[in-house]
Amino acid sequence: MRSMVEGFPLMLKAGRLDKTTLEEAEHNRQKGIDGICLVGMGGSAIAGEICAAYLSDRSAIPVVTFQGYTLPPFVNERWAVIAVSYSGDTDETLSAFESAQSRGCPTFTFTTGGDLEKQAKGTPIQKLTTGFQPRAALPLILSGILPLLEIILNLQRTDLESAATDLERMSKDWENMPFTPKQLAKDAMGKIPLFVGWKHLTPVAYRARCQMNENAKVMAFNSELPEASHNEIEGTASCGEFPLLPVFLRSTEEDQKTRNRFEATLEIFSKNGCNPMNLELGLRSRIQESLGFTFFLDLVSIELAELRDVDPLEVKRITELKKKLRKTT
Ligand code: F6R
Repeated sequence: MRSMVEGFPLMLKAGRLDKTTLEEAEHNRQKGIDGICLVGMGGSAIAGEICAAYLSDRSAIPVVTFQGYTLPPFVNERWAVIAVSYSGDTDETLSAFESAQSRGCPTFTFTTGGDLEKQAKGTPIQKLTTGFQPRAALPLILSGILPLLEIILNLQRTDLESAATDLERMSKDWENMPFTPKQLAKDAMGKIPLFVGWKHLTPVAYRARCQMNENAKVMAFNSELPEASHNEIEGTASCGEFPLLPVFLRSTEEDQKTRNRFEATLEIFSKNGCNPMNLELGLRSRIQESLGFTFFLDLVSIELAELRDVDPLEVKRITELKKKLRKTT
């Protein structure tokens, strides 16, 4: 798992859309659509979440993510549906994909195979490289769906190659940064991490929580500002009872109002004894922040797994649940 995570920048450079996908994307761009729905679960969902937040103030139409069995009713034949399932065998994704097909939505599929590949036959399918854990394939999936979204939405293409090169450079220089992934993992030992994000870093905070869960096998949570300062902040009254480690993901894009809110929230967390951490990576652009924080926090989850002496790769409990559900259907 460590080498998969360390390969993050390299995987970002791998994205190539095949001819059928490109043609269908171009066709959707020309005809115009009402929205795009990204479907997928767990590790296969997160690339969509990150892309949707990254594009949120550039897209003229809604780009939504969906995790579940039946697509919401507003997703009709004027919506494009992008289904992602690394294994191609995830129940919810198969079911949502079926509803997209029955509604006549144009579809795109990213998978290594499984039933999804069979179900998507005759429509654009991007085959993903096999041999990864789905959650480790995030950069691979993102390197395909981000350009796909940008073509359909008629947006300027993000240069993922140079973002990847910057990440490679950054990872060689952890030691000169205010925190290294190992230091943050040490601080998280015996604590419950709470990742707090804003705007494009909201799904990154969620990703960090999932990576702590799945790789380091610890409970972890995530929340979002400004919303969390209207509810979660009251929970800091119990900070003395639970060993919480709040990690605030700070963006260089914060406006003055947001910065003030972060600072005031941090003060209240500190006053109540939660000892928050302000995580700043000093990255230059939104794409670098979305990917750089993700990469950094993925590494933290690996470091934490090693400190806790657990195997970051295996996901026994997810497999157990999937087996149980298969028996009941
Ligand atoms: C495993 C992982 C899980 C899976 C999820 C959906 O590494 O991250 O969250 O991604 O159970 O399975 P797939 O991705 O095969 O559709």
